[in-house]
Amino acid sequence: MTERHAVDLYEISAEVLHRMTHGGVLCTVMDAQGATNIITLGWGQIGPGYHGNPICIIAITPRRYSWHMIEEVAEFVLGVPDDALQDAALLCGTRSGQDCDKWSEANLTAVPSLHVQPPSIRECPINIECRIYTKVAPPHLLLTPEHREWPEDEQHTIYFAEVLGTYRW
Ligand SMILES: Cc1cc2nc3c(=O)[nH]c(=O)nc-3n(C[C@H](O)[C@H](O)[C@H](O)COP(=O)(O)O)c2cc1C
Repeated sequence: MTERHAVDLYEISAEVLHRMTHGGVLCTVMDAQGATNIITLGWGQIGPGYHGNPICIIAITPRRYSWHMIEEVAEFVLGVPDDALQDAALLCGTRSGQDCDKWSEANLTAVPSLHVQPPSIRECPINIECRIYTKVAPPHLLLTPEHREWPEDEQHTIYFAEVLGTYRW
């Protein structure tokens, strides 16, 4: 297996944002018992500003099974897919971990991360390891007008995370 090597997130941020807006990125989460899941995300921000490390911001609604997991273990990994993983991204964004094991359904391989508990995804060329340091619960005006129409208890929680490592295989 090729060794992963650290890369500068700012130098690859255009690639990450391109994937985020074209099919989504794969986010791994873990619950307090150690069970893991993958959720596709299309809303996110990357920028400078925390102890010299980049910040990554994501949004997950309590409608998702993944929400209780990220509430239990405040860490996640963003796996950035390539073209070959578009079907996997769609599957992880349309099926629920409550009903299936997305790792096997999407043919994805969990590998230990270096800084956080949720695993990295072997098939994703880039994995971004993140630890949440604060979150913003609704009501907030951070998402789209369409999302603000949802019942407040179903609106997205916004998670602000410090990026502890960004790796390319
Ligand atoms: C392209 C794409 C982007 C998505 N972005 C988000 C997002 O930013 N936040 C969110 O809560 N759900 C988002 N979703 C929906 C979840 O990925 C989807 O509901 C998923 O099946 C939830 O899985 P879970 O029940 O295992 O947590 C997105 C779905 C797709 C296909």
